[in-house]
Amino acid sequence: MEKEQAPRNRTLTLTNAERQKYKDRLVHAVDNLSLSHVVNKTLCGNLLAVLDNLPKGFADLLIIDPPYNLDKDFDSKNGGFKFSKTNDEAYLIYLESWFPKIIETLKPTGSVYICGDWKSTFCLYQIMRDYTIVRNRITWQREKGRGAKANWKNSSEDIWFGTISEEFYFDVEAVKQKRRVIAPYREAGKPKDWEETKDGNFRLTCPSNFWDDISIPYWSMPENTGHPTQKPEKLIAKLILASCPENGIVFDPFLGSGTTSVAAKKLNRQYFGIEMNEEYCCWAEKRLELANADKDIQGYSSGVFWERNTLNLQLMETKQKTKKKTLVENIDLFSSVAVSS
Ligand SMILES: C[S@@+](CC[C@H](N)C(=O)[O-])C[C@H]1O[C@@H](n2cnc3c(N)ncnc32)[C@H](O)[C@@H]1O
Repeated sequence: MEKEQAPRNRTLTLTNAERQKYKDRLVHAVDNLSLSHVVNKTLCGNLLAVLDNLPKGFADLLIIDPPYNLDKDFDSKNGGFKFSKTNDEAYLIYLESWFPKIIETLKPTGSVYICGDWKSTFCLYQIMRDYTIVRNRITWQREKGRGAKANWKNSSEDIWFGTISEEFYFDVEAVKQKRRVIAPYREAGKPKDWEETKDGNFRLTCPSNFWDDISIPYWSMPENTGHPTQKPEKLIAKLILASCPENGIVFDPFLGSGTTSVAAKKLNRQYFGIEMNEEYCCWAEKRLELANADKDIQGYSSGVFWERNTLNLQLMETKQKTKKKTLVENIDLFSSVAVSS
């Protein structure tokens, strides 16, 4: 039965016909996966079963969002994965069962990000320390979290960043943040390092390792799916823009609903993702198809990352830029007509 949903709810759905179409696009495990099997593809299967067959040294960037050390059901009733919380030692053994092989898929100049919550972070640091040069730990303030009677509400996640050599790609200019200036400082009466506009005062800043500008996807956002732990496109976009050159390859071995591949495609990077739940793979394929026509990433526009709740300002800036561009194009057209006539 195909489900109906409220008109303002933009959560992605699939018809049975679409499901069939997207299933046909998925790649399945074969003995030796060559680059042509994986680039710009979604492999539907168990990562542990294909680990030894993955091509080596192809990825510029690994984005790894594995099951955290929590009880979590990724739709096991329909053949999906169910993770059961365990102790640190067993979680580390689980990480060890795939992490070293995944690292082998990186180019020598590649980078890796791995996500987790505060409980998993101790093991994530250990595995990163053993196989990469750890560069940083980003803390993402998720905002949403369940309140507890006798504990602090958990509303943050960690993303560890590492590389495998001293030579690696990092483009800080591509991930600048546009922030409102609270205390505008002037020098000789002129704004110092900030811009005065009719919509307010703004500064472009280098991003820190504390990210408080990204909400989790929710039902009114077009990127939303029914995945229980879907990451926001804006968050993944930052990692990709900073750590993968244009046309480079981003590999996500726990693809879920496809966020990494979709963000990569929208940002003109290539992608490869593995996911064992066939329904999630189909969601990923539908999102990839939608990205042909719509490359928007909520919270990222005009080449900068915006603070939360600034959609109106972003739209105004895009409108002004489009107006300016059309004006320039018209002037160009006018002058070429004038010259040729
Ligand atoms: C934390 S979620 C990733 C969510 C994803 N970042 C997104 O934005 O949708 C982890 C995913 O890994 C998948 N998974 C877990 N173990 C797997 C395995 N051994 N092989 C392939 N996929 C697996 C789960 O089905 C789940 O969708």
